[in-house]
Amino acid sequence: MEEERITQSNAGTTEEKQEITLRPQKLEDFIGQRTVKDNLKVFIEAAKLRGEPLDHVLFYGPPGLGKTTLAGIIANELGVDIKITSGPAIERAGDLAAILTNLNDNDVLFIDEIHRLNRSVEEVLYSAMEDYALDIIIGKGPSARSIRLDIAKFTLIGATTRAGSLSAPLRDRFGVISKFEVYRPDELSEIIERSADLMGIKIEADARDRMAKCSRGTPRVANRLLKRMRDFSQVRGDGVIDLKITEEGLKALGVDELGLERLDRQILSTIIERFDGGPVGIDTIAASIGEERVTIEDAYEPYLIQTGLLYRTQKGRMVSSLGYKHMGLEYPYSDDRDADNDDDQNDAQIKLL
Ligand SMILES: Nc1ncnc2c1ncn2[C@@H]1O[C@H](COP(=O)(O)OP(=O)(O)OP(=O)(O)O)[C@@H](O)[C@H]1O
Ligand SMILES: [Mg+2]
Repeated sequence: MEEERITQSNAGTTEEKQEITLRPQKLEDFIGQRTVKDNLKVFIEAAKLRGEPLDHVLFYGPPGLGKTTLAGIIANELGVDIKITSGPAIERAGDLAAILTNLNDNDVLFIDEIHRLNRSVEEVLYSAMEDYALDIIIGKGPSARSIRLDIAKFTLIGATTRAGSLSAPLRDRFGVISKFEVYRPDELSEIIERSADLMGIKIEADARDRMAKCSRGTPRVANRLLKRMRDFSQVRGDGVIDLKITEEGLKALGVDELGLERLDRQILSTIIERFDGGPVGIDTIAASIGEERVTIEDAYEPYLIQTGLLYRTQKGRMVSSLGYKHMGLEYPYSDDRDADNDDDQNDAQIKLL
């Protein structure tokens, strides 16, 4: 059974509905992701001027950063309809053909988890994206023939948490590829302020900033923390969220000052206690704590790496000196061990040179 996590960044089912009301509808209400937003603004404007569909767009980045939200905004700004589906939901090529033939010119088709499309479906998408056409085989055996069916000139917006899992031919057919970055605390604080306004919640500025720091760089987590803190403030306080309530609430939820929860800390402590701080393979870690490898890779690891507590090397994962410190432990190695081994950091340094 999956553990209930306050800071998990994928959406629960009831939450999906509430999210709709918190979702910004216009580009100017979408906070952060400056580069992505500024570029899109130009492309949207240009497409509208020409009366053509926007080029196909691929969004990638960790869950809960606003990919679905931004896709909706694009359709709004273009003044067109959006049809939303996901990779695993389109089982057969025929399913996709049915969706495509129902689109109108300039409409947006949003495919979430696009890396999970199966091969035969993906192949239909190639000609649809490139030529706005479907190649259909009619009949069987020697009398079979292929006909080409024109479809509306649409915009595909694909979203994925794993750009690396996308096949090259599919990736190449996107004219715009945008990476979503985790949000800064000041941006998250702004998002919390906006959501609190929309939900009619009173919250003090220092409480907001505290919450923003514990949100793992993720708006979805920020909104979820806000809702839980509202509960605490109504039951234990006077309905206003202040710093004291927030600190008590975070503690009660087992969220520490970096936004880590039990399982995040368990990953760190397992590597430290059982494997001397690493390097240790991801599969070994997964087996040791009884979690799926992909869950660790997609949901836990990115934030641990981003905060500098964990890093990836060719031989496996290692806990950094910062990671030891965060767990309240002395770092038993010399400090250069970090810099020598950190592949991500070394890559960054090479790029800088
Ligand atoms: N830039 C933003 N400004 C304000 N709110 C945001 C922003 N980005 C995301 N949100 C809020 O965060 C929540 C999650 O966003 P969204 O569902 O778009 O994320 P996602 O990247 O599609 O996640 P997933 O990969 O899980 O599908 C939404 O409720 C939305 O209101
Ligand atoms: Mg989404």
